Amino acid sequence: MSAAPRSYPDLHEHIAELEKRGLLRRIDRKIDKDAEMHPLVRWQFVGGMEEADRKAFLFTNVTDGLGRTYDIPVVVGAVAANPTIYGVGMGAPLDQIQAKWDHAIANPVEPRLVNDAVCHEVIIEGDALKQEGNGLDKLPIPISTPGFDSAPTLTATNVITRDPETGVQNMGTYRAALKAPDRLVVRMATRVGGAGGYQHYLKYQKRGEPMPCAIVLGCPPLVAFMGPQKLPIGVDEITVAGGLAGGPINIARARTVDLTIPAESELVIEGLIDTEYLEPEAPFGESHGHVALEEFNMPMRVTAITHRKDPVIPSYISQVAPSESSVIKRVAYEPLFTSHLRNTLGIRGVKKVALHEPLTGLLRVTVVTLEKGTSRTEVWRALHGAAFFKGDCGKICIAVNDDIDVDNADALLWAMAYRMNPVEDVQVVPHRGQGHGPKREHDKEEDSTLLMDATMKADLPPLALPKKEYMERAKAIWQELDLGPLRPQAPWFGYSLGDWLPQWDEAAKRAADGRYLDNGKISEKQRRKGLKPETKFRPDRDGNGNRS
Ligand SMILES: Cc1cc2nc3c(=O)[nH]c(=O)nc-3n(C[C@H](O)[C@H](O)[C@H](O)COP(=O)(O)O)c2cc1C
Repeated sequence: MSAAPRSYPDLHEHIAELEKRGLLRRIDRKIDKDAEMHPLVRWQFVGGMEEADRKAFLFTNVTDGLGRTYDIPVVVGAVAANPTIYGVGMGAPLDQIQAKWDHAIANPVEPRLVNDAVCHEVIIEGDALKQEGNGLDKLPIPISTPGFDSAPTLTATNVITRDPETGVQNMGTYRAALKAPDRLVVRMATRVGGAGGYQHYLKYQKRGEPMPCAIVLGCPPLVAFMGPQKLPIGVDEITVAGGLAGGPINIARARTVDLTIPAESELVIEGLIDTEYLEPEAPFGESHGHVALEEFNMPMRVTAITHRKDPVIPSYISQVAPSESSVIKRVAYEPLFTSHLRNTLGIRGVKKVALHEPLTGLLRVTVVTLEKGTSRTEVWRALHGAAFFKGDCGKICIAVNDDIDVDNADALLWAMAYRMNPVEDVQVVPHRGQGHGPKREHDKEEDSTLLMDATMKADLPPLALPKKEYMERAKAIWQELDLGPLRPQAPWFGYSLGDWLPQWDEAAKRAADGRYLDNGKISEKQRRKGLKPETKFRPDRDGNGNRS
């Protein structure tokens, strides 16, 4: 139907690409969306699989707790089961994603309005929505955390609202619980750094009007990425998606509300959000890793459901990290942090910023990697900059050098153990909001910030593992002897940390070549009387040297 030109794939094309690259599992067996679907996909996050081996799951034979069948397939993990899948959606290898985000944010592209939209191939409006199996109950929306959640919940959403004063639209990924064939309840975070849509809600509430809303499922991936991305309030995300695509995103007018929607979406739920009454929503397993308990949120009366003839419904697997939700946010947020420190604050030694993912879910632990030798004042500017860039990220901030594997908690503890003097290198800063977390009952309570400089303050002797060339030589023997698979864990070879001399390199080489007796002859010449054992010796090029 929609023949408008475009420079980006839709979800159907993206799924086909994932399948071509072996990144998709097609599940044709009957799967109960309420009790089986998310637990099945969850195994790839808690079953000891490598991140790189995770895939998207396409369910083609969906049933529910009552045995009803659905003719719409569901895809889980298609946007970000792992960073490779995210990269396919971005149309860029992982190492170019930072540059792609930086470029798109700096060069937004206005969307193109089209009349024919594929997401309008099927339209259900008015009373038709109330017929059994024709409203929200026609959609195979899974339960994310069976055993705790109280409703099938939309998760892979791009929720569109408009600022009634400026006319600028916002797009955010917010969950919405199904309540009736024509009613759902949307949850927009009210905290600082929470949902942009909530700011619109407050304005409609002041006017005494309901808020028009379009919940889009299955946007083209470049648009889907905009939902969780943290952009300043007032930036229309569709223009940044255009920046990512390198051309305009096609949009169409929604049918029953005054909003525009991405034309190549799979399915759109239009409606009016009540700004007077709230309705209890949840329990729902949350991305901070605990179950969000029941609370009042925003009911929306559905005024239309429109979709492609052959829609696929996406669902994000979230809750305890790692998850699809944490991958999609991590790949998007880390470039923002790095760019903030490097470009906005101009801190030169910054190599990257990592948001710690497993269990802590990105919000609580931030690791800033700095070049060795970055001055102490710059390290502290980086720590403060990372901790306070976003209101709900960076409760614990650690600065390390670039030999530390930031995804290895053992390596972080190692840096803290040997490179940090708590009395000089730790600061606790008061007055942090609670952020996204389970402690809702202590709503008014403040949290605080812990900053730690675990960078090297001076040169250290080398890491005591064989040099890389010896480890690699031994690896070849290991493989020749077929001693089993190896999964190298950094650090797996020794390297200099500054306090090391070429003369010692030469001595080590002689020793490894079997010529240690030569070293004995050299050291014999330096025998001295009257020194205390453990007096340091630094040989010069001739083998003579300083003692201290
Ligand atoms: C799977 C997933 C579910 C999310 N659920 C919600 C939610 O229910 N409410 C919310 O306010 N933010 C939620 N978020 C976070 C927002 O999408 C994120 O804060 C985003 O920046 C909001 O966009 P906005 O700033 O345009 O509102 C979710 C993110 C993901 C990836």
